[in-house]
Amino acid sequence: MKMSCFPRYRLGRILGMFQIILGALVIMVSVSSLYRFYSAGFFIHNEDICKQFYGVRDVYEGFDVMALSAAVDEVLHKMLSLQETLESTVEQLEKNKDLSKTNISMLDYKNFIQQQVIQPLYTAHITLRQIRLPKIENGTTNEDPLINTFVTEEIKKYITPKENRVGKKNIYGTEKVYNTIGHGCVSMKKELEEYMDYDIGSFCKDDWNIAQNLMIKGCDPLPRRRCLTRASKLYQKPYPINESLWRIPDGRNVRWSHYSCRNFECLSSKNPKRGFSKCIGCFEMEKERVKWVINTTVSTDFLIEDVLRVKPGEIRVGVDFGIGTGTFAGRMREHNVTIVSTALNLGAPFNEMIALRGLIPLYVTLNQRLPFFDNTMDLIHTTGFMDGWIDLQLMDFILFDWDRVLRPGGLLWVDRFFCSRKDLDDYMYMFLQFRYKKHKWAISNKSKDEVFLSALLEKPPRSL
Ligand SMILES: *[C@@H]1O[C@H](CO)[C@@H](O)[C@H](O)[C@H]1NC(C)=O
Ligand SMILES: *[C@@H]1O[C@H](CO)[C@@H](O)[C@H](O)[C@H]1NC(C)=O
Ligand SMILES: *[C@@H]1O[C@H](CO)[C@@H](O)[C@H](O)[C@H]1NC(C)=O
Ligand SMILES: *[C@@H]1O[C@H](CO)[C@@H](O)[C@H](O)[C@H]1NC(C)=O
Ligand SMILES: *[C@@H]1O[C@H](CO)[C@@H](O)[C@H](O)[C@H]1NC(C)=O
Ligand SMILES: *[C@@H]1O[C@H](CO)[C@@H](O)[C@H](O)[C@H]1NC(C)=O
Repeated sequence: MKMSCFPRYRLGRILGMFQIILGALVIMVSVSSLYRFYSAGFFIHNEDICKQFYGVRDVYEGFDVMALSAAVDEVLHKMLSLQETLESTVEQLEKNKDLSKTNISMLDYKNFIQQQVIQPLYTAHITLRQIRLPKIENGTTNEDPLINTFVTEEIKKYITPKENRVGKKNIYGTEKVYNTIGHGCVSMKKELEEYMDYDIGSFCKDDWNIAQNLMIKGCDPLPRRRCLTRASKLYQKPYPINESLWRIPDGRNVRWSHYSCRNFECLSSKNPKRGFSKCIGCFEMEKERVKWVINTTVSTDFLIEDVLRVKPGEIRVGVDFGIGTGTFAGRMREHNVTIVSTALNLGAPFNEMIALRGLIPLYVTLNQRLPFFDNTMDLIHTTGFMDGWIDLQLMDFILFDWDRVLRPGGLLWVDRFFCSRKDLDDYMYMFLQFRYKKHKWAISNKSKDEVFLSALLEKPPRSL
């Protein structure tokens, strides 16, 4: 199609038509945006905000939000296709060689389209995209408590639950991760009140599983402190320090209520009903013994010895952020390095196991920043925990926190992070954005579509 062949008046008419369509769209968008702000509670007093925004009704004052949501989607779609049409028109005009020397009026038209049509349209499109409707879900919605109490965008971003990328359940068995400033308790009011219904000074209920569920869903820290926690009936003294590290503990030292298993033998990887799906061989010492000390054929497996050789004598304290029974910390202790291991009791007594081996379990979720001061740790090691399910913004919050905790010259050891091949670039960017010095970097195939990424990175000085 050669635009120069078109008589001027036809082009003018086409543009006129565009303007009419655009006018109509702008009106629709304005009305719907206004309504969104109204429904989001911008014109309502504080106490009504949450009710309005997270209300259970789909129809407010006779206004069908479902229908509105559909209509807005349609507008978005229409605007996008219109934008594409207009852009291709401009492209056609540009291709026309005679454009500059012949008709100045054509040039005017091009500029007109570009400045007067495409740019406003694009802006409107972006604006519309940025307006966040409360998600319309079937039945009740009680997500995102207090989100509109905060004005600062970063707080909103932080506390908005991050959905898993693949739509599957994550390591915690939930669809989202709930970054928390403690506000999550509002959405778990019923459970929290049940949990806090206890007799001060007497024995606690045996409900650690409820506590953990509250933590995982963002109600953390928990306010129950004044009852006496129960211990197992036949608690034995732990094995002596020269034996405990590589020995399966005495099963009598664990309260087995709320697990599928009732003893350590049952947690074996051979048992399909062991009750957990991550870190499968973790309770078998013969499987644990070879980790990080024996060469494998996989390039993404680094040895502790090789890593420590990067900074001889400098690595003394660190964190192992993952899921496991403390083997990494145990091996590091052999090198006189003190490692704290994060652990949640996801289907098995990971915390008890680590402590019974004589190591330090840290009972935290991903939802919070780490309880360590800035620039203190020599090493952060992570494995088996953050994988391709993780939301990028969530990962950003986590990695910045690790950066905070690491001291200058400290090492970040990303150990067998895995994701689908197509997501690799995204995740690589996440790790590389801090411009750490790369000591080791390896990618290997996990399966046809999945890859492992391991990296040993050093935090730069940051002398400011
Ligand atoms: C340019 O515009 C003039 C009138 O201003 C018209 O006569 C002429 O045909 C146009 N040329 C082209 C290439 O469209
Ligand atoms: C809502 O419920 C209807 C049936 O009750 C179902 O067909 C639809 O898929 C549900 N939508 C969502 C988003 O769950
Ligand atoms: C551990 O130490 C105790 C004494 O402290 C000793 O009796 C025992 O034999 C030692 N065990 C091993 C396996 O070395
Ligand atoms: C691992 O392999 C490397 C070379 O392939 C070798 O230098 C090193 O000694 C081996 N380490 C162990 C613990 O076997
Ligand atoms: C650990 O410390 C002990 C006592 O200071 C020392 O004998 C040992 O050689 C150290 N081990 C390593 C691997 O540095
Ligand atoms: C990994 O997989 C990709 C694509 O499936 C293939 O091209 C590549 O050669 C594989 N690399 C190795 C080391 O097997």
